[in-house]
Amino acid sequence: MGVRSLAVGALGVVLGLAFSTNAIAAEKKMVNYVVKNGAIAKSLTGKPGNAANGRKLAINRKKGNCLACHKMPIPEQAFHGEMGPELIGVAGRLNEGQIRLRIVDPKFFNRDTIMPAFYKNTGFTRVLKKFKGKTMLSAAQIEDLVAYTMTLK
Ligand code: HEC
Repeated sequence: MGVRSLAVGALGVVLGLAFSTNAIAAEKKMVNYVVKNGAIAKSLTGKPGNAANGRKLAINRKKGNCLACHKMPIPEQAFHGEMGPELIGVAGRLNEGQIRLRIVDPKFFNRDTIMPAFYKNTGFTRVLKKFKGKTMLSAAQIEDLVAYTMTLK
């Protein structure tokens, strides 16, 4: 086990704790969505999200916290994590539906990923009682993040 994998493990634990204690669990009643060809084609809310709000959620440590693991074009924030791939240019690699499923449930692609499933209410291994049966983000927040991520051409 190298230094890097140790560091990955430690960060995973730290982030896991941060998420389980701080995340404001948003919704109890989930929207049903359809996964087809590795993508969720339809907006969870039936409407497009707000990219400016998505950018704020990506920075917010108690919400998306995407910056903790991904480098993004957000120069006013000093710390950008490197556990995940750079999201600069991701909208050129993936389409909207593929990005939506990666935010909703990255475990669909990789069961062992350290990226949290932001719109899932089952299958968590450690979860505080008050978050049981709830998603980390609301459907509207997911759509705001999708809209923001789609600007990263
Ligand atoms: C705890 C670290 C972590 C956090 C927090 C995180 N991600 Fe990720 N993300 C990853 C990793 C690692 C991958 C690589 C895929 C894998 O692990 O299977 C990834 C992959 C992705 C991908 C696919 C990128 C590609 O080029 O294929 C997207 C899109 C993405 N994340 C978006 C987000 C967004 C948006 C947020 C915030 C809501 C977020 N991630 C939060 C770790 C994280």
